[in-house]
This record gives sequence, C-alpha cells and structure tokens, in this order.
Amino acid sequence: MEIFCSTRRLVLRRFTAGDADLLVELDSDPEVMRFLTHGRPTARAEIEKIILPRFLEYYTLFDGYGHWAALEKETGDFIGWVSMRPRDGDPSDEPELGYRLRRDAWGQGYATEAAQVLVDKAFAESGARRVFAETMAVNAASRRVLEKVGLRYARTFHREFEDPIPGTESGEVEYELLRADWEQQRRNR
Ligand SMILES: CC(C)(COP(=O)(O)OP(=O)(O)OC[C@H]1O[C@@H](n2cnc3c(N)ncnc32)[C@H](O)[C@@H]1OP(=O)(O)O)[C@@H](O)C(=O)NCCC(=O)NCCS
Repeated sequence: MEIFCSTRRLVLRRFTAGDADLLVELDSDPEVMRFLTHGRPTARAEIEKIILPRFLEYYTLFDGYGHWAALEKETGDFIGWVSMRPRDGDPSDEPELGYRLRRDAWGQGYATEAAQVLVDKAFAESGARRVFAETMAVNAASRRVLEKVGLRYARTFHREFEDPIPGTESGEVEYELLRADWEQQRRNR
C-alpha cells in the first residue's frame, strides 16, 4: 500500500489497478451520485477504461497531486476518495479540491478532515497559489465542507447541460482560497 498521508482517523493511499470494484460500488449509490448525475451510477467499463487509468497516470505526472483512496484507520475500510489536482490545461499552481465518500461514512467530519490535509499540503508542499472547488449551488453538504476548510465563496455561474438535473437551475458555485489567506488562517489555528 502506497500511503500518501494520514489524518487523525484516516489513511490516504494511492489507488491501484485492483481498485475498480471499490469505485464501482461507490458510484452505484444514487445518493452519492445525486448532485453529479442525478443518481445514475458510473458504468464499470468507464471506471476500468477511463477513470481508474486516469487516476493512476496522474501519479506519474505530478508528485503530491491526484486522487487518493481514503481508508478508516480503525477498520481499514475504504470510505471513498478525495482529490487535489490542477485540471487539464490549468496552471499547476491552481489545483482543484474534490471528494466523494460512501454514504455510510457521511456526517462524521471525514470529508473535512481529509480535505484539510490536502489543502495544507497543496500550499505547504506543492507550491499552490490558489486552491479552488466547484459544486452545485444546491449541494449544501459539499459547500459546508469547503467553508470548514477555509475556502470562500467566489462566484455563481451557469453551465449548459444537454440533460440538466434538478438543481441545475440554481447554478454552480466556485469557492477558492489564496495562499496569503491560507497563511493567515494557519497562523490563527
Ligand atoms: C459532500 C460529502 C463529501 C460530505 O462528506 P462528510 O464526510 O459527510 O462531510 P463532513 O462531515 O466533513 O461535513 C459535512 C457538513 O455539511 C453539513 N451538512 C450535511 N448535509 C447537509 C445539508 N443537507 N444541508 C446543510 N448542511 C449539511 C454537515 O452538518 C456538516 O457540517 P457541520 O460540521 O457544520 O455540522 C459527502 O456528502 C459526499 O460524498 N457526497 C456525495 C458526493 C458529492 O456530492 N461530492 C461533492 C461533489 S462537488
């Protein structure tokens, strides 16, 4: 197991080629996918041929950025993933934060705990200038996590979707944290 880092209750490790089943199961819960696809699961073929290979390739491109499998220290159970990485074509010092956890792990502060360590590492170790995240405006839990790790609301915007899902009409929100603000927050912790 290639460990990226640990938090108080979690281990974040690299994904491996053998992790397709974990991702298939995670994305098969309609509640997990509610604000992503309106509950539609991700096809196994997409996970095996596109998503997981992309996760793995990423480890070879950027040290310190990528998607990480989150495991509960106490049980060793996979609870989902968290991510920090620049989008394709974006500057390498502007990574995006993301997370997707199994429903049985929600409401225990796990997303906040994992996201906080990724934000701290992005600024302290990977030279980030700005960390940002996007979510549907109606995704209250996701917005709350962003606020709890110090990101601030930046803007609301509207994307065109061929097949919009409920809540699309309220738009997407972007949150961000700049290096100087992170430094200030860290001093105040
Ligand atoms: C978003 C997600 C990662 C949050 O994970 P989590 O481990 O439950 O998050 P935390 O426990 O760290 O924090 C959640 C916060 O949101 C709050 N919250 C949860 N549901 C809420 C709701 N419907 N309305 C308002 N606040 C809500 C919680 O009370 C908590 O805030 P608090 O600590 O101030 O009480 C999880 O719900 C998830 O994986 N959702 C599906 C995937 C997804 O939507 N990902 C984001 C896509 S951009």
